[in-house]
Amino acid sequence: MSLNVTAALYGEILKEEEGGFEERVNDAKKFMDWFFYKTGVERNVKDAKIFVAGGTGRYAIAAAEMGVKDISHMDLSEENVRRIQGISDQNKYGIKSIQGNLMDLDLENEYDLIVSEGVIQHLPDPGLGLQKISKCLKSNGSFFFSIYRYGTLSWTISERLRKLHSPADFNEMIDVLGKLSLYDRPIAYSHGTFGRWLLDVLYVPQHGTYAEQQVADTLEESGLSVTSRDNLPALHFSLPTHKTLYFIAKAPEDLAKVNWSAIKVESLYHDRCDDYPVYVNELIDELDAHVEKYKDRSALEKAVFSIGVLTAFDECWRQALFEEAACNRMINYLRKYCG
Ligand SMILES: C[S@@+](CC[C@H](N)C(=O)[O-])C[C@H]1O[C@@H](n2cnc3c(N)ncnc32)[C@H](O)[C@@H]1O
Repeated sequence: MSLNVTAALYGEILKEEEGGFEERVNDAKKFMDWFFYKTGVERNVKDAKIFVAGGTGRYAIAAAEMGVKDISHMDLSEENVRRIQGISDQNKYGIKSIQGNLMDLDLENEYDLIVSEGVIQHLPDPGLGLQKISKCLKSNGSFFFSIYRYGTLSWTISERLRKLHSPADFNEMIDVLGKLSLYDRPIAYSHGTFGRWLLDVLYVPQHGTYAEQQVADTLEESGLSVTSRDNLPALHFSLPTHKTLYFIAKAPEDLAKVNWSAIKVESLYHDRCDDYPVYVNELIDELDAHVEKYKDRSALEKAVFSIGVLTAFDECWRQALFEEAACNRMINYLRKYCG
C-alpha cells in the first residue's frame, strides 16, 4: 500500500466524533502524569524536550497543558498534524507538528522524553522503528511506548477477521457501519466508538502482537534499561483488557554504550497450541473454520460477519464474561448465527 493511501486511511480511522478529542486529551494527561512521575521529569517539566512519535497528537496537547514548552510531534496523517497545529496555534503552545514517516527518522541525542502510544505495532518494521525512535533519546532520556500484547482473546479474534478484509472493501464497511449507526455506539472499554474501533482493528495495514519478555530482553540487550513494564504472565487470555503492553526504556549516561541495531522484535501469531486451555483452542478452530467459509463471500456479507463477531465480543466485555464463558459464548454465536 502506498504511503499516501496509508496516511489517508489513518485520517479516516482516527476521525474524531464531536467532543471526543478533548476527552482523549484528558486521558493522555493521566498517562503523562504517571510517566512524568516515573521518570522524574515532574521535577522540571518546563525544561523537558519531548517528542510524540506518531498518533493523533493528543499526548502533545496534554504535555503542553501540563507545562512542557518544547514539544515535537510526527505522524503520517495530514489530518492529525493539521488538527494539532491548529490547537497549538490557537493556544500558543508552540508545538512543532510534522507530517512524516517515523521510519525515515534520522535524529540522534535529541529528546529527554519520547512518547509513542499505539503506534509501534503498526510500523512496517517495528524493530527498526523502535531503533530509530530510541536513537533520538538524549543521555538518561526516557522512552514510553505501548505495543500490542500477544496472548489475549481480543487480538486472537481480530487477527482472524483481518484475513477477510482488504482496502478494497474499506468504503463498503464505512457505509455499513454508518447505516447501522455504529459510529454512535460506545464500546465497553474505551472512549472510542464501535465503528472507529472496528475500522482500526480490521484495516490498519500492519498489526502485530508481541511477547512482553522478548521486548524487555531486546531493550536490555541493546544497553537501554527497562524502568517500567507490565510484568504479566506470558499467556493471559483471561485479561482482554491487557491488549497493550507498556514500557519505559531509559538511555544510559553514555550513549556510545548502546547497540541500537540489537533492538529487534518479532510478531507472534495466535495459533492454537497445547499450552492454551481447551476452550481457547475450540474458539480458534471455530473462528478459522468460519473465516474459511466467508473468504469467498461478498464484501457486504464479510462486513456483516465481522461486525457480528466483534459485537458479540464487545458484549462479553460489557458483561465481564471472560475466559471460558466468553469463549463458549463466542463459539455458540458463530455456530448459531454465522452459517
Ligand atoms: C491506531 S493509531 C494510534 C493512535 C494513538 N492511540 C493516539 O491516540 O494517539 C496509529 C497511529 O500511528 C500512525 N502511524 C502509523 N505508521 C506510521 C509511520 N510509519 N510514521 C508515522 N506515523 C505512523 C498513524 O498515522 C496513526 O496516527
